[in-house]
Amino acid sequence: MSNENIVWHDHHVTKKERSSIKQQKSCILWFTGLSGSGKSTIANAVEVKLNELKKHTYLLDGDNIRMGLNKGLTFSDEDRVENIRRIGEVAKLFVDAGTILLTAFISPFQKERDAVRELVDEDEFIEVFIDTPLEVCESRDPKSLYKKARTGEIPNFTGISSPYEAPKKPEIHIINDKISVEDVTQHIIDYLEEKGYVHD
Ligand code: ADX
Repeated sequence: MSNENIVWHDHHVTKKERSSIKQQKSCILWFTGLSGSGKSTIANAVEVKLNELKKHTYLLDGDNIRMGLNKGLTFSDEDRVENIRRIGEVAKLFVDAGTILLTAFISPFQKERDAVRELVDEDEFIEVFIDTPLEVCESRDPKSLYKKARTGEIPNFTGISSPYEAPKKPEIHIINDKISVEDVTQHIIDYLEEKGYVHD
């Protein structure tokens, strides 16, 4: 299909205006890590805290998005790339809406995470690496998926039969095997306050 008859429209209300009435600077907090690493738990806790601070947020979460927008995508490399590409486009819209967007996807490939980074301004993408050793994720196995991956019942499972490329230079790196959810959450909130993403 050709795009030649489609013209981009600039809106009258700008991203800056949408953000500043919320006393915040919109951005994407991009959580990445293995299944069971704690991405969703931490992203939820950060969102609760931001909400208490009266900040405007939204959370996009792997399993939920795969039930709707990305229904039908598999865990092949190709579909994982498409999964993240679509989420990146949605994330960009949330940034334009002045929102602090949290995303919790394995997003195993550096190239796709970098492609999302490129979609927004330089300081609008905050990569948060939830670095939990595979053994720890596997021992937690909250959804019993690692057990199924080991027997081959689930193919292409990240960390077992599909690769995970750790971020090279994440803005925030959390070694998540001994630290409490409260401490991780505070660390991320401190980062957002220090860098001026949230203010009074
Ligand atoms: S991603 O790799 O495309 O970014 P995404 O975050 O959307 O993955 O989905 C990951 C979630 O799907 C996991 O937390 C897990 O619950 C479930 N899942 C089902 N099959 C797989 C698989 N083969 N590999 C990884 N996660 C899987």
